[in-house]
Amino acid sequence: MRTELMPVTAASIALAASLMKEGELVAFPTETVYGLGADALNGKAVLGIFAAKGRPADNPLIAHICDKADLAPLVTWVDARTRALMDAFWPGPLTLVLPRSRAVPNEVCAGLSTVAVRMPSHPAARMLIRELGKPIAAPSANRSGKPSPTTAQHVYEDMNGRIPLILDGGPCGVGVESTVLDLTGETPVLLRPGGVTAEMLREYLPRLRVHNAVLHPLASGQEARSPGMKYKHYAPQAAVTIVRGTPQQIAARYDASVAAGKKTAILCAGAAPYGERRTFALGSDAGEMASRLFAALRAMDEEGIEVAFAEETPTEGMGLALTNRLLRAAGFCVEEG
Ligand code: TXA
Ligand code: MG
Repeated sequence: MRTELMPVTAASIALAASLMKEGELVAFPTETVYGLGADALNGKAVLGIFAAKGRPADNPLIAHICDKADLAPLVTWVDARTRALMDAFWPGPLTLVLPRSRAVPNEVCAGLSTVAVRMPSHPAARMLIRELGKPIAAPSANRSGKPSPTTAQHVYEDMNGRIPLILDGGPCGVGVESTVLDLTGETPVLLRPGGVTAEMLREYLPRLRVHNAVLHPLASGQEARSPGMKYKHYAPQAAVTIVRGTPQQIAARYDASVAAGKKTAILCAGAAPYGERRTFALGSDAGEMASRLFAALRAMDEEGIEVAFAEETPTEGMGLALTNRLLRAAGFCVEEG
């Protein structure tokens, strides 16, 4: 299959929607990461997403809507608490997990009794959903196990030959996936941190619990509240170690690795303390660092980096999403300097 890359225009949106009406898959930009979309009400088309990504069949997808009123048909209830969250954070990078209605095909929810729904703020995503006239089921548009794509070029690297069309809307602003919030129980649970922070949610949900798997490996036998928690994510080729220590200690680790003949890099906020060493400097605050992390992990692979040492990152605000993704890239390998 030939994969076309097209800038977002009224014509390319119309083409994308017509392909999706025929059951095809289209990659499109959102404010978080690029999504790989199919008509969410077409179970067969949705199965194609799992094949194109190499995604395990038990990992459910997010249904994307363009209007708050589109939520009600997909779920069995919308209570006042849910409405307050929608009013505060939609459109935007917040995904709500709610009990699903019978309108949602099994394929979207991977057989669960719940459905994850989000209303993106990216104009291209909203135009596409509106043009299709149905919700779009979409995971991130990477091959399973690769970092999520934050540019159309990343999508092309992973999906060339597998899908007919990629809509190019430039780099994604947030750069990490949406916050996933489970509202099905009495206590709301943050399953995946993202562009809407735990602090922002706590203003509406004082009892919010952050799931243990956000910062810790799932203990063997522990149930995954979100199937995505079980899978190895964001893993570059390099062995990544998060070093709890000073820049001097990180530099010493780097030098020892280079002396051992390994192609080595440092993942850091700013390059300043590391001199001539190969660094991937992510930025000055956690939000900027999060938005650049996935591109840096892909660039490390392209360069053939075998070993990487990362500075420890904060866990407040956007730091929680940054640290969550970095821990996964490192396979939870954290060492003292
Ligand atoms: O920002 C995003 O959320 C991007 C863009 C494209 O919207 N999408 C995205 O999708 O990151 P995906 O499939 O890569 O991640 C969805 C996450 C997975 O960890 C999945 O396990 C979880 O949401 N999830 C989906 N449905 C769920 C459900 N019913 N209950 C619990 N977790 C669910
Ligand atoms: Mg994903």
